[in-house]
Amino acid sequence: MVDEQAIKVAQERFGELLRRQLERVDVLKGEGDWIDYSKLDKLIIGVCGGDGIGPYICASAQRVMEFLLADKIKAGKAEIRQIDGLTIERRVEVMKAIPDDTLEELKKCHVILKGPTTTPKKGDPWPNIESANVAMRKQLDLFANVRPVSVPELGIDWVFYRENTEGSYALGSDGVNVTDDLAMDFCVATTQGTERIIRAGFEHAKKTGKNYVSLVTKANIIKTTDGKFLTIAENVAKDYPDVKWDDWFIDITTAKLIDPARRSDFKVFVLPNLYGDIITDEAAQIQGGVGTAGSANLGKRYAMFEAIHGSAPRMVTEGRAQYADPCSMIKAVAMMMEHIGEIEKAKKLNMALDVCTQFEKKLVMTGRDTGATGNEFADYIMETMKRPDLETVWQGYVDASIAAAKKN
Ligand code: IPM
Ligand code: MG
Repeated sequence: MVDEQAIKVAQERFGELLRRQLERVDVLKGEGDWIDYSKLDKLIIGVCGGDGIGPYICASAQRVMEFLLADKIKAGKAEIRQIDGLTIERRVEVMKAIPDDTLEELKKCHVILKGPTTTPKKGDPWPNIESANVAMRKQLDLFANVRPVSVPELGIDWVFYRENTEGSYALGSDGVNVTDDLAMDFCVATTQGTERIIRAGFEHAKKTGKNYVSLVTKANIIKTTDGKFLTIAENVAKDYPDVKWDDWFIDITTAKLIDPARRSDFKVFVLPNLYGDIITDEAAQIQGGVGTAGSANLGKRYAMFEAIHGSAPRMVTEGRAQYADPCSMIKAVAMMMEHIGEIEKAKKLNMALDVCTQFEKKLVMTGRDTGATGNEFADYIMETMKRPDLETVWQGYVDASIAAAKKN
C-alpha cells in the first residue's frame, strides 16, 4: 500500500524547497559586478581559526599574512580582525551552522582566512548540523571554489573551478525521509548559478592564456542538472572563440588524472560541486597531499580562503596540534594575495612555499615532535621570502627537477 499521507507531507516539504530556490534565482538575477579591491579605503580581513588544528595552522598562516601586508597595515590600508564563534562548541550551542553574531562580523569583512571546521555526520557525538564551510559558501554567495594544483616536473598545471553553492550541496541538509524506507536528496542547478561558474572558468583560461577548458559532468546519467551544465557551457563557449574546450565524464576524468600520457594536457577544469569536491582531493594528492593545496572560495562581494583538508581533531587530543602542517593555509594566503591584487606578494610566497616544501626542505613537518612546528615552518617560509635571490634559486630548482624527471 502506498502511503499517500507520506507523499503529501513530502510534497509540501519539496514545495518549500522549490520556493526557496526560486527566491534565490531572483536574487542571482539582480547580482552586481565583482568588487574592486583597489577602490577600497581599507581592506578588512577576517580570520576564523575554526576547530581542531585550525586555530594553530591559522595562527601560523596569519603571521605570514601580516608579514606580507605589514606596509598596508601600517598605512591603515588593511586591517586584520579576529572573528570568534565559528567553533563546533558554539555552533552546537546555538544549533546553527554559523552563529548569527559571527555571520554579522564576517559580513563586515571583505576577505576571510578560515581554518578547517568540524563537519558532523550521522553517528558523530555532535548533533548533525550543517557544515560551517558549506553554510559560509552559501550565505556569502562564494560560488567559485578555485583550487590550483601544480607539479612542474610532471608538466601538471591545473586549476579547478568547482561550483560551490549549488549541485548536491545546495540542499545537502534538506533531504527528505519520505517514509522509513525511502530517502531522497536533491541536486540543484540554476541558469544563473551555472553560467557564472562556467564564465569564471573561461575567463581564467582566457586571461592566463591557458586557453583550454575541460567541462566535467556525468550528463549521460544525471541528465537534468548536469545536462543543463553542458548546455550552458556550449553557449558560454561561444563568447570565447580562442578558448578550446571539451566535455568529459567525471569517472574517466578521475582515471585520466593519473594517466601520464594525458594528464599534462589538462589546464582548466569546470565542474559541479560534488565532482569538484572529490576530484580536487585526488589532484591534491598527486601534488603531494591535501596538506599542500589551498582553496579560494570567491564571490562577487566576499571571498574566503582555506585549506582543503579537515580539522584533524585527533592531533589535538594526542597533543600534537603545534606540529600540524600549516602549508595548505599558507597556500590559501597566497591565493588571497593574488585575489586582492597583490600579484608580486603572491608570486613570492608561492616560490617560497615551493622552495621550502619541495626543494630545499631545510625543515620538514612530520606531524609530530620529530619534525618542525607550524610556527617554525612559517618562520622558515618568511626567511625564504626575504632572500634577494629567491626567484633565481626557485627557477634553478624547477629546471633541475624538470631535467631529472625527463631522465627517468
Ligand atoms: C572541501 C571539504 C568540504 C566540502 C567539507 C569539509 C564540508 O571537503 O572543502 O572540499 O565538502 O566541500
Ligand atoms: Mg573536499
